[in-house]
Amino acid sequence: MEFKAIVDVKAREAADCAVIGIYEQGDLGVAAALVDGQMGGFIGKLHAEGDFAGKVGDVLLLPMASGAAAARVILIGLGARGAFGRKQYRKAVHAAAQALGKTGATDAIVYLTLEEATGLDVGYRARIVAELFCVNAYKVPDLKTGTKPKAPKLTRVSVAAENAKAAKAAALGLVIGEAVGSGITLARDLGNLPPNVCTPTYLGSRALQLAKEWPRIKAKAIDAAGIKALKMGAFLAVTQGSEQPPRLIVCEYRGAKKGVAPICLVGKGITFDSGGISLKDPPAMDEMKFDMSGAATVLGALRAVAELELPINLVVIVAACENMPSGAAVKPADIVTTMSGQTVEILNTDAEGRLVLCDAITYSRRFKPAAVIDVATLTGACIVALGNHFSGLMSNDEALAAELSAAGTRADDRVWQMPIGEEYVDQLKSNFADIANVGGRDGGACTAASFLWKFAKDLNWAHLDVAGTAWLSGSQKGSTGRPVPMLVDFLVERAGLQ
Ligand code: BES
Ligand code: MN
Ligand code: ZN
Repeated sequence: MEFKAIVDVKAREAADCAVIGIYEQGDLGVAAALVDGQMGGFIGKLHAEGDFAGKVGDVLLLPMASGAAAARVILIGLGARGAFGRKQYRKAVHAAAQALGKTGATDAIVYLTLEEATGLDVGYRARIVAELFCVNAYKVPDLKTGTKPKAPKLTRVSVAAENAKAAKAAALGLVIGEAVGSGITLARDLGNLPPNVCTPTYLGSRALQLAKEWPRIKAKAIDAAGIKALKMGAFLAVTQGSEQPPRLIVCEYRGAKKGVAPICLVGKGITFDSGGISLKDPPAMDEMKFDMSGAATVLGALRAVAELELPINLVVIVAACENMPSGAAVKPADIVTTMSGQTVEILNTDAEGRLVLCDAITYSRRFKPAAVIDVATLTGACIVALGNHFSGLMSNDEALAAELSAAGTRADDRVWQMPIGEEYVDQLKSNFADIANVGGRDGGACTAASFLWKFAKDLNWAHLDVAGTAWLSGSQKGSTGRPVPMLVDFLVERAGLQ
């Protein structure tokens, strides 16, 4: 999809479809007033006769909008003018994207960017249009026979800007929104692919492919022998029961000078989590193909950063393997030595995420990172605590936590900070090793994060538990691409671009 910001009124009017906003009480938005004039007061009359209330996200398609310059007009409800903020704006844009997708229009002009929305400048308003139009056009990797999805008709979307200055801000917003959309698309594709396709080797090949596509990215996929040489005993314990070879994927993006400390994103890449010897129950075990969502989102964020050519250095580390039961699998009570030297008693082989991550976090130290953020579908307990609305955030640095929190709010991809600390580490006491990998049911998300914290000493570190947010179950089953929007917002902010 091609995005553009347009100031010129005549150029705008040539569109196949105009998307205009209307507040409640018949309060016409900027563009609606204009089109209402062209249509001899038709839009005002619609409201007066009770045909369009203007509630947030209400949609009405006027297919043959006689008098209007555009071939079609879509009315979008904006709610009460006084309450029009970020959430309402996103809902309105989402409704517009959905409605437009169902028409035959090939190009559209979205006037919603002209409306003032609390907390959103014009750049952000444009950015949301690009992001949500990309997201709306997403189709899952198609493995069904006989039903080839049609290519979407809509190929050009413009947003209206008041003047040249606003158009410049909007144009940058569109570029960012499109990059976020493309990061989300990559993450969702990887998450949705079946585990017999999306293996550790496959994840590695996708990372190498990113490096081929983007000159600023260097990537390598380290094999089992390399992982052994690095002495990643915890990572190796998880992979040892699997027939699929593991990969430690390392991507370096260079957008700033060589000496500038990078931000490290670390992703949990368990391409299938059966639980291992501590086998999971069969119902819903299929959903454990999403257990590489952390990996998918850090690769998605990397792609967005590369597209935006952000002036930062970024390192993406993915620990990719399967967690399977077999005669060779790690057993409850096995004790392993992590790359950090600390020993871990593996009491439950289903608590494997923290095992691969602790070694990946230790590996990140070689880059002398400015910050390390790990992303993982780590605990069912986090879903119990937060549902699928917020990702769990734990950090040993309040400033970093606040930065990530703010990014989550701006990007509408929110996080909720949860505690870590010695109290939780006490739950992880082992009689035989430095630490155990499980600490009982209570505070499960916090004990998991506190385990990682023990490996993040002196790092500026944050952990995102995305077990509830990275994918949805039920009729909407599928990958969401979260927290790509939040991560990209954080990185764009760090780059000083917004
Ligand atoms: N990948 C799971 C966490 C998970 C569970 C994500 C359900 C999404 C939905 C993780 O590896 C796991 O199995 N965690 C265990 C930890 C427990 C054994 C301490 C869990 O949450 O049950
Ligand atoms: Mn598990
Ligand atoms: Zn897992």
